[in-house]
Amino acid sequence: MNVLLIGSGGREHALAWKLAQSKNLDKLYIAPGNPGTAQCGENVPIDGGDTEKLLEFAKENKVGLAIVGPEDPLASGAVDAFEAAGIKAFGPSAEAAKLEADKAFAKQLMRSCSISTAEGRIFDRFADAKAYIASRDEAVVIKAAGLAKGKGVYVCDEPSDGILAAEKIMCDKIFGDAGSAIVVEDKLLGEEASILAFVDGRNIYVMESSQDHKPVGEGDTGPNTGGMGAYSPAPVVTEKIMNQITREVLVPIVDGMNRNDTPYKGILYAGIMITAGGPRVLEFNVRFGDPETQPILMRLKSDLIEVCLAVCNGTLEDVTLVWDPRPAVCVVMASGGYPGEYEKGKVITGIEEAEEIKDVKVFHAGTNEIEGDIVTNGGRVLGVTAMGDGIAEAKAAAYKAVHKIQFDGAYCRRDIADKAIRKSKVN
Ligand code: AMP
Ligand code: GLY
Repeated sequence: MNVLLIGSGGREHALAWKLAQSKNLDKLYIAPGNPGTAQCGENVPIDGGDTEKLLEFAKENKVGLAIVGPEDPLASGAVDAFEAAGIKAFGPSAEAAKLEADKAFAKQLMRSCSISTAEGRIFDRFADAKAYIASRDEAVVIKAAGLAKGKGVYVCDEPSDGILAAEKIMCDKIFGDAGSAIVVEDKLLGEEASILAFVDGRNIYVMESSQDHKPVGEGDTGPNTGGMGAYSPAPVVTEKIMNQITREVLVPIVDGMNRNDTPYKGILYAGIMITAGGPRVLEFNVRFGDPETQPILMRLKSDLIEVCLAVCNGTLEDVTLVWDPRPAVCVVMASGGYPGEYEKGKVITGIEEAEEIKDVKVFHAGTNEIEGDIVTNGGRVLGVTAMGDGIAEAKAAAYKAVHKIQFDGAYCRRDIADKAIRKSKVN
């Protein structure tokens, strides 16, 4: 089967790497891809948002399955367009993608399904939001309701900072129309985990747990980023907590989507805060997490095309997911300055040496190839991922590989996976 993968980040390199291992694959196309995906298939110079051109390409090249990586094309109806043309497409419809693309919709649905989440109010007028935030004397979290590339959330310990954030989003429109409405939430305390599941409309197949590291600085300090590293499994998600999340979050939201006449197919990603009072939902995403996908897929032994087809066909009960029991750790190497301003075009060396280390894979994210050199081309540049017999060994291998790689201004957190290592020492 010919497969077209849409996207160009670290997540897409990990997906392409895994898809290329499938016995069901004839030809893999990636649009637009990056120099990493070019090692797994053929990059096609079509923008991931240009559904019309992608469809044309898919028809001409006998694509049997399209896999949509990022949220934007999902929210603008890429899967609907492929399905209407008779091509199987992995991911939710535009209506179902509102679970991520419209945080106000997600909040209301969670409420109607009695899913445990932070208390929150939805506002579409700044004056009302300001009055509400000013009436509170504890920390607030301000969220742009629409898609803001992971940057639309402000955790504010002072209500006055919350008002400033609401003003930037609603009045200055720093995220454009994505900030027409905001959600104002209570701040939750605890440890975060990412729970990803394959969903075929009825059946839910939960993957191994993982944990992201959102803030740029060590010890979870500084502004939020797309994610500075991840590991899988996350020991904070015990079997009991995983069962609770499945029962109290995933099953009710999939049922709720069916009742809403927006059946859910694709990846359902629940961002969870494990509080003293149990797991609570921070957000839903409608696609694989980045960088969580890198360590998760490194551990997945099953054929990814078979699983994706089962999701499209509504036959998830027929597949089995087999996991490597060894943990995996992904350390993101970023451009100096990220998530603020940063320079591009810095030559990267040492990737091949890094990959000579056992069980290490370097996933490209923001890279480009210019005259034979691999150069930086984004904030998050590489996801250096390693497996090990234990979480400490996986971390050691990942950082050993990081040390082999150089580019001007390279930055990474040094404490990826430390929370898991501390937990494994206690247990
Ligand atoms: P979201 O995109 O909604 O997951 O938010 C991005 C990040 O902001 C999360 O991963 C958390 O670190 C933080 N966050 C979001 N909502 C809350 C909340 N209610 N309480 C505490 N932190 C939050
Ligand atoms: N790693 C967080 C996300 O993919 O949204």
